[in-house]
Amino acid sequence: MKNRVIVTGGAGFIGSNFILQWIAQEPGIVINLDKLTYAGNLRNLEQVSGHQHYSFVHGDICDRELVSDLLERNQPRAIVHFAAESHVDRSIHGPDDFVRTNVQGTFSLLEAVRAYWSALNESERADFRFLHVSTDEVYGSLGPGDAPFSESTPYSPNSPYSASKAASDHLVRAYHHTYGLPTLTTNCSNNYGPFQFPEKLIPLMILNARKGKPLPVYGDGQNVRDWLYVLDHCEAIRIVLAKGVPGQNYNIGGWNEKPNIEIVQTICALLDELSPKDPVVPHKDLITYVKDRPGHDRRYSMDARKIERELGWRPRETFETGIRKTVEWYLSNEAWIEEVTSGSYRQWIAKHYA
Ligand code: NAD
Ligand code: DAU
Repeated sequence: MKNRVIVTGGAGFIGSNFILQWIAQEPGIVINLDKLTYAGNLRNLEQVSGHQHYSFVHGDICDRELVSDLLERNQPRAIVHFAAESHVDRSIHGPDDFVRTNVQGTFSLLEAVRAYWSALNESERADFRFLHVSTDEVYGSLGPGDAPFSESTPYSPNSPYSASKAASDHLVRAYHHTYGLPTLTTNCSNNYGPFQFPEKLIPLMILNARKGKPLPVYGDGQNVRDWLYVLDHCEAIRIVLAKGVPGQNYNIGGWNEKPNIEIVQTICALLDELSPKDPVVPHKDLITYVKDRPGHDRRYSMDARKIERELGWRPRETFETGIRKTVEWYLSNEAWIEEVTSGSYRQWIAKHYA
């Protein structure tokens, strides 16, 4: 078994940050398997595209033959599974792709991996890891005074997206319990940072604010999320991969709960400072309350003490430092923004915010 890792969904937001960090900090080779849906963008990986430790394979995790072949040829020591449909609003408009990729795709991947892993020798089997990247949304929604989600909080997913992720988590759990596959599952809170597709709250608000367009805040703006800078998430995944105990779940969070309206106001204030010549300043004049997301979870909050206690991980970035870096990144990467906001992106915005 070689020092090779296969990453699925590595051309997406978190996957590409993970690969960039991996190439900079780890000795092993990374193979990126990605279908390149609307959310996948090889531009994110331009810096490493010619690196001898990186290669890209265009393909679908549902294609078992392709995945089996990839495993046989590369003999990886681990899979880090990011590939998914990830946007809650899209799952409400059309859940099919979510069930296909998140549930059937994870199942198909697990089957291919199980066959590959079963044929390894005993010590290789013991060393192998299947790391499944999941979300805090599988735990459902909290009230204002409820305790944060812990690893033993019962699953209670509310959207087609979170239900599909919960289903995939259960499959991963079952493959450990039944077959002994050395799995690790991470459940993380909301990420933000470079390369996030501007359908999600933070980049959408930055882009709209710069153009003088309304900033659509759902409902009363008091829904709470726990925000984590993406490179902190990537570091946590690397630590779980290196030191996590097979069969275990690890919650990852930012210790940083904030209502959505506060996030939007912070972005507006940063843009007033960093981009004062935009068409509408102060940018907060653009804040517009719009119809709520159906079934909108009220509050997420992560108890991330287990990963700190057992594996020694804590986020490095505060929200203040992370959000400033993020706004600065979007201000200095206009070519990237131009490219991702053409075509199907415009259709999505027109349909969803009509
Ligand atoms: P993303 O939507 O930005 O990227 C998903 C990637 O998966 C894209 O590159 C896409 O092309 C690829 N992909 C989709 N379907 C595929 C298929 N069938 N086969 C191969 N590749 C496919 O997502 P993200 O925000 O980077 O999230 C990555 C993972 O992390 C997801 O599993 C998500 O559930 C989880 N997660 C995300 C967050 C967050 O805040 N974004 C938080 C916690 C967990
Ligand atoms: O909690 C982890 C999850 O975070 C991940 O599993 C998902 O993949 C990721 O998309 C994210 O889900 P959310 O639904 O929390 O993220 P989103 O950026 O879509 O929305 C964040 C909050 O902002 C949510 O309460 C809805 C609100 N919102 C979002 C958009 C796009 C708005 O008020 N207006 C908007 O236009």
